[in-house]
Order: sequence, then structure tokens, then C-alpha cells
Amino acid sequence: MLQLIDNIVEEARQYSPTTRDEIEQYRIKYLGKKGVLADLFGQFKQLPAEQKREVGQKINQLKQYVSGRVEEMLASLAGDDAREGSMDLTLPGHPVQLGARHPISIVRNQIIEIFSRLGYVISEGPEIEDDWHVFSALNFPPEHPARDMQDTFFIEKDPDIMLRTHTSSVQVRVMENEQPPIRTISPGRVFRNEAISARAHCIFHQVEGLYIDDNVSFADLKQTLLYFAREMFGQHVEIRLRPSFFPFTEPSAEMDISCQICDGKGCNVCKYTGWLEILGCGMVDPNVLEFNHIDSTRYTGFAFGMGIERVAMLKYQVRDLRLYFENDVRFLDQFQSAL
Ligand code: DAH
Repeated sequence: MLQLIDNIVEEARQYSPTTRDEIEQYRIKYLGKKGVLADLFGQFKQLPAEQKREVGQKINQLKQYVSGRVEEMLASLAGDDAREGSMDLTLPGHPVQLGARHPISIVRNQIIEIFSRLGYVISEGPEIEDDWHVFSALNFPPEHPARDMQDTFFIEKDPDIMLRTHTSSVQVRVMENEQPPIRTISPGRVFRNEAISARAHCIFHQVEGLYIDDNVSFADLKQTLLYFAREMFGQHVEIRLRPSFFPFTEPSAEMDISCQICDGKGCNVCKYTGWLEILGCGMVDPNVLEFNHIDSTRYTGFAFGMGIERVAMLKYQVRDLRLYFENDVRFLDQFQSAL
């Protein structure tokens, strides 16, 4: 009987079915109700007790071998099916969706790029600041309304610690660490206690500029800003400076650019003035230089500050500020830039 089983094993090993039908027949032949194994089990029952152990083991091994073989063959057939039939290797792959740079980052990078061509270096300061850097060192009188609780987020009821309301605070940080010549721009996030609307947000971005050296004049400021406006918005752009007031500059001005939509003729974007306001600027107040240990009898300088969202609104004609913060990919995907 042992010999018989060995022969059957050998036969089962040599036969190799290739189709699903053949495999099924193979299975039935050996494992079916009337198959070879059933027959062997029948014979096994007749055996004298002392042979049962050894023969039983062999029959079980045969059964395991055949079941394993059937499974193996079915699996390899399924693999072939996948390769040949159900999978089309000529189909295009699933596209990987590429992200786009945020419009605020694009505009910030462009501003940085334009000013770095003029030799400006980037400086940064903390978003959580103290009164000295945000207000006092910038010549804000103690009772100035900008210090009001309405505008400024203070930290834990300590009126000395706050979220910076403008990046002018970085001017102070630079001046306390460096002596002229200073030529720097400071991009960053600023915070104001404002109700969120299409025109205002409690978080936005600014770029501050500061240039201090011998003989820096208002004419240098004008020419620098004209260069910036034309690089940013196009060579045909005109600028206009209107007198204004900031505690840290004297004289101070606000700069408008000629409206891009109507070319200065007047439209609803520029409210029929032909001009759009873009930034604040002025000559650094000698008090500010002195507060920061820079000799105001020797050095002069200019400063300017602009909102990045504002520049982006003018550039892209997207005039609801909230869109810049919602990060809807359908909005963000529309902005493409090399920078
Ligand atoms: N810090 C001003 C603001 O937040 C902007 C500004 C105006 C910055 C005039 C300046 C400047 O450096 O000279 O509105």
C-alpha cells in the first residue's frame, strides 16, 4: 500500500494542468467524493492496526500536497489573467495633482526679488512683540490711538506684550543690531483686532522697507518706489505721492499707482479717481534714529510699508480678502508663477 501511495504521489506531481477546467478535474480526480484519496481512505480502514499509523500519515501528506498544488495553480492562473486580460498597460497613469504656490507667497517673492536687485537684504522679527518695538521706538506717543485695545491683540492682559500690528517693528530690530548703511526689507505676518470682511482681516501680510545711509533723500525714496511699481505692475505705471502722517516718518506720504483697469481714465475699481493706494512711506523721523542709537545728525533714511494682500488684489483683481485665507484649491490653482 505504501508503494501504491508513492506511485500516486509521483503521478500527481508530474501532471500539470494549465486551464481552470483542467485544474478542477485534477482536484476532482484526487480530492473529489469518489476520487483517489477517498478510495485510499476506504482501503486504509481495512488495514491491520499496526500499519495504520504509517499509511495514514502518507495519505495525509498526499492530501496536503494535492490541495496545496491546486491552490498554487489557481493563484498563478489569476496572476496571468491580471497580466493578460483585465489590466490594460497602455492606459495613461493616474495624474499626480501638483499644488500651486499661494498668491500671497508669489507676490511676496516678487517683492523680495525686485528689492534684492536694488541690494536690499531680508530681515525678520518676532510676531509676538513688546510695546517698545511696535510703538515706542517708532515714536508713537503714549496716548496714540494705534495702541488702543480695539486695534491690537495683547497677550494675557499684559499691555506690554502683543501681536505686532505692523512689520515696522522689524525696522527697530534691525537698527538696534546694525549701524548704517542699512538696506533691508522685512516681509511678515501682522495682526489687528478687526472684524473680518471682504476688505479687512485680523491677519494679513506686510513688507517693510528701510534704507539708511549718508545723504539719503526723498528723491531716492521716490525713484526706488517708481522702480518697484513699474517692475511689479508694468513699465507704463505712474506713481503719485500724497502727503500723509505716520509717527515714525517725517515727512510722510502715501503712494498711489495709476489704475491698471482703466489706465488712469477712471472706473469703479479706482472709484473714478484713476489712482489706487498701495503703500505708506516717508523719511525716517530723526527721533526714531536716535531711539535706536543711530546718529541723526549724520544719517538720513527712508522707510515704506505695504500690504501684500493689497498688492495681490491690485495685481490679480481679486477683491475679497477672505479668499486669500480660505485656501480653496480651486482658487489657489489659478495662480502660476516661476517664483
Ligand atoms: N506701518 C504702516 C502700517 O502698518 C505702514 C508704513 C507706513 C510703514 C509708512 C512705513 C512707512 O515704513 O514709512 O500701516
